[in-house]
Amino acid sequence: MFSQASHNSRLTPVEPAAGSTELLARISELIEDLSPDRVDLLKAFHRIQHEFGYVPREAVPLLAGKFRTTPAIIFGTIDFYSELRMAPAAETTVDWCSGPACLLKGSLNIRRALEATFECEMNRTSADGRFGLRLVQCDGTCHLAPLVRHHGRYIGPLTVSESIEWARRLTGDDRRAPPEDGARPAADEASPELAEPVEAE
Ligand code: FES
Repeated sequence: MFSQASHNSRLTPVEPAAGSTELLARISELIEDLSPDRVDLLKAFHRIQHEFGYVPREAVPLLAGKFRTTPAIIFGTIDFYSELRMAPAAETTVDWCSGPACLLKGSLNIRRALEATFECEMNRTSADGRFGLRLVQCDGTCHLAPLVRHHGRYIGPLTVSESIEWARRLTGDDRRAPPEDGARPAADEASPELAEPVEAE
């Protein structure tokens, strides 16, 4: 038999934040004319994110009610689409390619290095809001694999040490601890040359 506590926790998924009446009213306005079937769900996300810059957590119960689904489905959908976010955008976002060519050439280690250097996980923003990492799919620029994308430019092919050096230059903070995988270049090692960034199409 379930305890009362566990029973309640399953039935109270998300409550609107206190003091967010105006926010909720605006979100209601934004989705008012949409069809309650799920075809319009993405349209709702886009409208809300266009208005606020992200999808506020308070929107989740409203969306679940409107589209006759559960908060879990709403959260899962937001999580699925990398363009959607539930927090204000970071000052600087770096796209990490999760495609097969990049993976074969060691991009997972680059991901770990970036997460450690920026102090944030994939598809999240650092606590200070400065850096964000976003998982993206292959867009056909595999000749630069493994790569990252920054402000519409491609940086690659990258080694782990090059990615650390590049990320540390971006942070402008050499005091940040390097990743623990030992991939950091020695202090007196010459800086590796990165491939000339390719302008986005
Ligand atoms: S797999 Fe990364 S660019 Fe193609």
